[in-house]
Amino acid sequence: MPGRIPENILDDILARVDIVEIISGFLPLKKAGRNFKACCPFHHEKTASFMVSPDRQIYHCFGCGESGNAFKFLMRYERLDFPEAVEVLARKVGVVLPRDETPGPKSSGISTQMYRINELAANFYSANLNLPAGLKAKEYLLKRGVRPEIISALKLGFAPDNWDGLLNYLRSKGVSLGFLEKAGLAIAKDSGGFYDRFRNRIIFPIFDIKGRVLGFGARVLDNSLPKYVNSPETAVYTKRKNLYGFNLAKDGIRENDFVVIVEGYLDFILPFQEGLKNITASLGTALTIEQARFLKRYTHNVVMVYDADTAGELATLRSLDIFIEEEMSVRVVSLPKGLDPDSFVRQEGIGAFKEKIACAESLFDYKLKILKSRYNPKEIEGRAKLSGLMLETIARFKNAILKSEYLKKLAQELNLKEEALLEEIKKVKTEKMHAEPQGLPVRKTHNTNPTEKLLMSLMLEESDLINRIRETLSPRDFQDERISRVVSIMFNLVDQGKAIEPQILMNHLGDDVLELVSESVFLTQNAPASEAHREKVVCDCIQRMKNEKIKLERQRLHEQIKVAQAVGDEELLSRLTEEFHCLIKKKAG
Ligand code: GTP
Ligand code: MN
Repeated sequence: MPGRIPENILDDILARVDIVEIISGFLPLKKAGRNFKACCPFHHEKTASFMVSPDRQIYHCFGCGESGNAFKFLMRYERLDFPEAVEVLARKVGVVLPRDETPGPKSSGISTQMYRINELAANFYSANLNLPAGLKAKEYLLKRGVRPEIISALKLGFAPDNWDGLLNYLRSKGVSLGFLEKAGLAIAKDSGGFYDRFRNRIIFPIFDIKGRVLGFGARVLDNSLPKYVNSPETAVYTKRKNLYGFNLAKDGIRENDFVVIVEGYLDFILPFQEGLKNITASLGTALTIEQARFLKRYTHNVVMVYDADTAGELATLRSLDIFIEEEMSVRVVSLPKGLDPDSFVRQEGIGAFKEKIACAESLFDYKLKILKSRYNPKEIEGRAKLSGLMLETIARFKNAILKSEYLKKLAQELNLKEEALLEEIKKVKTEKMHAEPQGLPVRKTHNTNPTEKLLMSLMLEESDLINRIRETLSPRDFQDERISRVVSIMFNLVDQGKAIEPQILMNHLGDDVLELVSESVFLTQNAPASEAHREKVVCDCIQRMKNEKIKLERQRLHEQIKVAQAVGDEELLSRLTEEFHCLIKKKAG
């Protein structure tokens, strides 16, 4: 939401920006009638279903539903938050943003407050590490070979062993407990009140690329379980999007033009401290498409380092296909049994670790090796199974040369005919698309009422209509909750004397209705109606909605009358019956 940036300034920026110019800075747009189109950058597709309208200044993907105005595009594509997207576009079109005169928690948005609270919490934990109570934590870290410089660079800390250490500290700073809960730092008790989420644990703050604290990971000091407790998802922390240590490693990743990805906090810390500067940690979950796309801005080359157990899992192998789809190169290192990057570096030294990385195997070789140890390539069934699993990966190559070269290689390795593999890979593609739309956004389908939707499209096209419609209908008359919300916002904007432009309207809408709005805009644009025809359609729609409203009201009364009869409430019954008759007259009239 806009927060503290005045609305007229947002409108002003949007009026000056050309969305076609903005988007074509990132993707090649092709003219298509009045619009422009491209392959959607937000999901994987072969035919272009991503449309940009120069007239209405919005975009919409008919494939995945992603849609919005110029701000939204930058937020999604460049992973900016709203104020950042505003800042970029304001600079571009020469609009000066007002300086915020009254900073502080009250005047700023929820994210800003959350960053500030996380920062305070990180300071608290970090100070604790140097107090007597934190001595055992400090000793633990030093014993594991974590040096003081990196403790302070990563702001490692300690959560004291009581229920309200952080709570009391932040309360003294004027932070509300409810907000602490929203930030994932406190947990609400059933009996009322709150307690600290992290207790008697070593704290690893998780930073974003700008060094803001998003959340925390917390490790026990002994062997008790769970080993780690982490922040939940909050307004500022999305697990799918983050990589631990990236803020410190981003320059190293750019300079080396490859990134080493490990799993755990300590697997990042030890190698980094010993001089491997292009490393980041996924924090124990499978890599996501968001993380892959984020990394792609820094390098196209990935080396995954796994311990022996993780490396052998089929799920691990499968998750790597994400990089192939993103046209990145991925290689794999599997460490000897019982060692993870942290212990490997402590035991063998960083030199040995770097050698391992230099000898990383391509995903193809690595996957084939693992599969060969599992399925017998000497047997026909084994080879069929094996080739099927290999084809899953090969099918993801977008580059035709790479794809055909790998097919050739697979045929040689398994002593199979290339033609047979070509035949099979076609099946993999179609099966995969249907069975497992991995990485594709899941689309929610809504049963929108066609009349309401049509009326909304007409209002979007012709703001004059809004005043007329509002004389007869209220937002509540729209049965579809999402349309009702859009209509209500349109009415509000008209009240403020604004014209309804989809791109401006979108600044006021939640993400869940953007698609509905942009789709309507693009569809009506493709089917323009004559003045007279439109007038008739409007009248029809209004009439149908009025009838629908009366019908629903009648059903409601009917139900109530049945209840009144059942309980024998004569007085209520006569009142309801009278209401019912009035309603019938209204419909006739
Ligand atoms: P050490 O045991 O101290 O070496 O930690 P580690 O970071 O090597 O942990 P491990 O290899 O067991 O797990 C890798 C990563 O998975 C961790 O860094 C955590 O991010 C995550 N993880 C491990 N155990 C848990 C757990 O119990 N709960 C949660 N939520 N995450 C965990
Ligand atoms: Mn470990």
